[in-house]
Amino acid sequence: MSSFYLTTPIYYVNALPHIGHIYTTTVADVLARYRRLAGEEVYFLTGTDEHGQNIERAARREGIAPIELADRVVAKYRELRDRLDFSYDDFVRTTEERHRLGVEEMVRRIEAAGDFYTAVHEGWYCSPCETFYTEKEVADKVCPVHGTPLEWKSEENVFFRLSRYQQPLLDWYASSPAPVRPASRLNEVRSFVESGLKDLSVSRASVEWGIPFPGRPGQTIYVWLDALTNYISALGFGHEGDAAERYRHFWEQGDVRLHLIGKDILRFHAIFWPAFLMSAGVPLPTTVWAHGWWQRDGRKVSKSAGNVVRPDDLIDRFGSDAVRYFLLREMVFGADASFSDEAFIDRYNSDLANDLGNTASRLITLSRSAFEGCTPPEPCSANPLLEAARRVIPEYRAAMDDFAFHRALEALWRLLAETNQYLVTREPWKLIKTEGPTPKLSRILWDGLEAVRLVATCLLPFMPATAARLLAALGTERPPERFDDALVWGGTPNSCTLPEPQPLFPRIDKAAYFGASVGDSAGSEKTPGESKPERTKPDQSPPGGSKKEQAKEAKMISIDQFFETQLRVATITAAEPVPKSNKLMKLTVDLGDETRTVVAGIAQQYGPDQLVGRQVVIVANLQPAKLMGVESQGMVLAASEDGKPILLHPDTPVPPGTRVK
Ligand code: MSP
Repeated sequence: MSSFYLTTPIYYVNALPHIGHIYTTTVADVLARYRRLAGEEVYFLTGTDEHGQNIERAARREGIAPIELADRVVAKYRELRDRLDFSYDDFVRTTEERHRLGVEEMVRRIEAAGDFYTAVHEGWYCSPCETFYTEKEVADKVCPVHGTPLEWKSEENVFFRLSRYQQPLLDWYASSPAPVRPASRLNEVRSFVESGLKDLSVSRASVEWGIPFPGRPGQTIYVWLDALTNYISALGFGHEGDAAERYRHFWEQGDVRLHLIGKDILRFHAIFWPAFLMSAGVPLPTTVWAHGWWQRDGRKVSKSAGNVVRPDDLIDRFGSDAVRYFLLREMVFGADASFSDEAFIDRYNSDLANDLGNTASRLITLSRSAFEGCTPPEPCSANPLLEAARRVIPEYRAAMDDFAFHRALEALWRLLAETNQYLVTREPWKLIKTEGPTPKLSRILWDGLEAVRLVATCLLPFMPATAARLLAALGTERPPERFDDALVWGGTPNSCTLPEPQPLFPRIDKAAYFGASVGDSAGSEKTPGESKPERTKPDQSPPGGSKKEQAKEAKMISIDQFFETQLRVATITAAEPVPKSNKLMKLTVDLGDETRTVVAGIAQQYGPDQLVGRQVVIVANLQPAKLMGVESQGMVLAASEDGKPILLHPDTPVPPGTRVK
């Protein structure tokens, strides 16, 4: 049995999780479940990154100890594990003793290899990244990742001889199969390394909340050297005897050592981490896979952009399996994807309620009514659906093996479409009336049920609870633990009692939903209104009025808080679409005493001609952010109707720069 070790990044504990954070864990969970079903020995690790200045500062702001903050956020991650059915085998925290032992061993080995030295470290420092940037990298003194101002820092640090590993890294990138994926990310790190590597500062003198650097008093281990080591410390690296058995099994002798990460932490994983491991004489990961970003309104979903989408809100509204499905279906793994409530509801209604739910319930209802509450008595072995299934299942498996989760789901939905087509052309609903429960009708309905059973089996990694419920509804006794025969045509039992079908995904009335909802799921400031969407799911719906009211109350802000947002009228003087984006428009706006560039997600609704000369309202004191390479120095206000922006403007023209209150 081959071993499959997979990890997610470990998450910072200075903020509560949003969909960007749960995305990697959801992908990892789907993959872990898939590999287990495929018969592999899986070990799935996730955890939290609890050291460093950011956590220290965030805790100080709240007047609590860093570990209290960490405990609170870890409790939230544990709650989400239960809500989202995550099946990880271990959760590592960098404040644990077992982790410290691993990090200290890593440092000892790198020290023994002669790869540390002490020197003065100067540069532009981004505290959220905990990284120094060079003059060349940040001419504007603004962090390229966070868009926040950088601070100049100079201190004595321990350095790691990263420059020594330039050629070994390039050799590693050239190995086959490619150790960094997708190919675009491999090219990115390769050209970065080719352009020359500087040694890396791996200690901080000014940070106390971390692991003391062994043998270097006054220095704390750099948070990334600390954090990256979680991938082996959790397995027992740095421990003696049996306690290191898992490390030997899954890392030293393991077949697959896979890190799933977001693209913003690629350099740490594809340059620093392998170099640390080479220096320490530890085997490298077999694959580092970097996915793209969830965006909203053209910006990366993040706390600093103020556009977070909270998983709890989505789970409350749509159920956890719908959330898992949407995340995996909507994003091409490796590319960026956009989140909106509208896109979510469209997928929910069309893919889940209609294609999956209705097809299954139609077949079950027809079989029950034709065959006295049972599955049909006759199986069928030669028919177009069997051919379709024989095509689709290998496509599904190939896509899963290639991390193309959206393609795997597309393939399954093709089988559902063919099933529907098969029924439409054979019209079993008419045959019941005209011919009764004939062998012909039995075969048609059995074929349909069997195709849906195969789809449900393949969906077990994606929607574990729903797929298991669906299999039970189709007469399968219990969901399979291994694919084996479960993916072979013929598993639907004959003449087996079928319970009355329950809707898997009750349809959502979009108009009622948007009528009921002020905006969509981003941020905590938007609250659903009074009228309820059609959908209610007893097990996962919000607990009721009083909690809602409390939530509403919690979201009230004071007038002072409102005035922290500076709203001003601006006149658009130029507008052009942002290249390679179909949503973003670059606007030049006159604010009376200054001109600014603002990027807005309005290109699908407004052309440049409709914009130039027009007055709009902008948020004038928003931190600048780069959108598709263009720096936006503010945000244009728009009403959002079914997700479409409608620009706001003053009733009569006013001088540009006028305050809005
Ligand atoms: N603690 C480091 C990782 C250390 S791994 C040894 C860290 N933590 S994080 O909490 O900031 O981010 C964790 C992961 O969430 C990263 O992979 C990051 O890419 C991902 N995401 C955060 N926002 C995201 C989106 N909007 N979209 C998709 N994933 C993004 O970095």
